Amino acid sequence: MKWWAWVDLNHRPHPQGLRAILMHEVTSSSAANPGRFPADVDLSVAIGALRFRNPILAASGTFGYGLEFAHLVDLNRLGGLVTKGLSREPIEGAPAPRLCETPSGMLNAVGLQNVGVRAFVEQKLPALRKFDVPVLANVFGSCQEDYVEVIRVLEDAEGLAGYELNISCPNVKKGGLQFGNDPAAAAEVTRAARKAALKRPLWVKLSPLVADIGLIARAVEAEGADALTVANTYPAMAVDHRTRRSRLGNLTGGLSGPAIKPITLRLVWEAGKAVKIPVVGLGGIETAIDVLDYVLMGATAVQVGTASFADPQVSERLPAEVREALFSFNVFSISELRGNFHAEIG
Ligand SMILES: Cc1cc2nc3c(=O)[nH]c(=O)nc-3n(C[C@H](O)[C@H](O)[C@H](O)COP(=O)(O)O)c2cc1C
Repeated sequence: MKWWAWVDLNHRPHPQGLRAILMHEVTSSSAANPGRFPADVDLSVAIGALRFRNPILAASGTFGYGLEFAHLVDLNRLGGLVTKGLSREPIEGAPAPRLCETPSGMLNAVGLQNVGVRAFVEQKLPALRKFDVPVLANVFGSCQEDYVEVIRVLEDAEGLAGYELNISCPNVKKGGLQFGNDPAAAAEVTRAARKAALKRPLWVKLSPLVADIGLIARAVEAEGADALTVANTYPAMAVDHRTRRSRLGNLTGGLSGPAIKPITLRLVWEAGKAVKIPVVGLGGIETAIDVLDYVLMGATAVQVGTASFADPQVSERLPAEVREALFSFNVFSISELRGNFHAEIG
């Protein structure tokens, strides 16, 4: 039952009476749409030149290189997947412990462990190519040249749909300030990556730790980004009062999971208002309603991260649940919902 039906019942007797209201409210979408089924709901979305069968992608760093999940998940049914962040050289990562649970969330300090871009191309990509799923390579570096070199290596490889630039990294050449915190640095690294990415779309994944995400979003859009991914984890920490030590080997980490959803939802809304390119939302998505919330705030697609730790099949399961939810609201295309948030108060 919708909340306004209760308002009617409690405060303003409905002329048709209680039964009529309830009958109206419980009228299922299938009765309202005879011959139509949840399977008829169109979840396909376009982001620039890329088309996705559904808008739910597995997020970087929470789905390995995709292959690790292939025995648990039918990769061919995913909207897409984003690889673990790839660097110029292999990185061993941060000391254990690397993960720790927090109220409604999780802290991680994996330290961007990865096999390095060349090993990815040689050892992972040939197996990934066998699946019918758009794969985006997540790219990072500690200076502009690193980003460019990773993309240059990937440009020679087959089987990728696009690149996602992780700019939540310290720029060592500029005193360690994150690329993602400074509009000029974000613009500079996007410009360099854009020049290197001749074959494929370029998404830029923004840091959530900014005073005005619109500024960064516009700076990156102006340099040719095809889409924005909003957002990465939030710097945070957890301590053990008994040992008086951090719960993470790296001392600090990134907060993710349901705890961050309300904060990131606002960032998606703010970023979407600032740019014309599509926004991909992620942060704390676990359910179909979480997906719809992000779409309502303007996201064209979403990614699922931490939820895969509890349920590796969540990204495969969500499309059917989103279809069911849209069907129950008489909505037959997810695009109808995009940005349909009513900003007026009341
Ligand atoms: C263990 C772990 C590793 C991650 N590694 C990366 C990474 O390599 N590159 C990146 O851009 N984001 C990385 N992220 C961030 C996620 O892709 C995502 O932005 C964040 O976790 C928020 O989404 P969620 O709340 O659904 O997890 C990582 C997150 C986690 C939990």
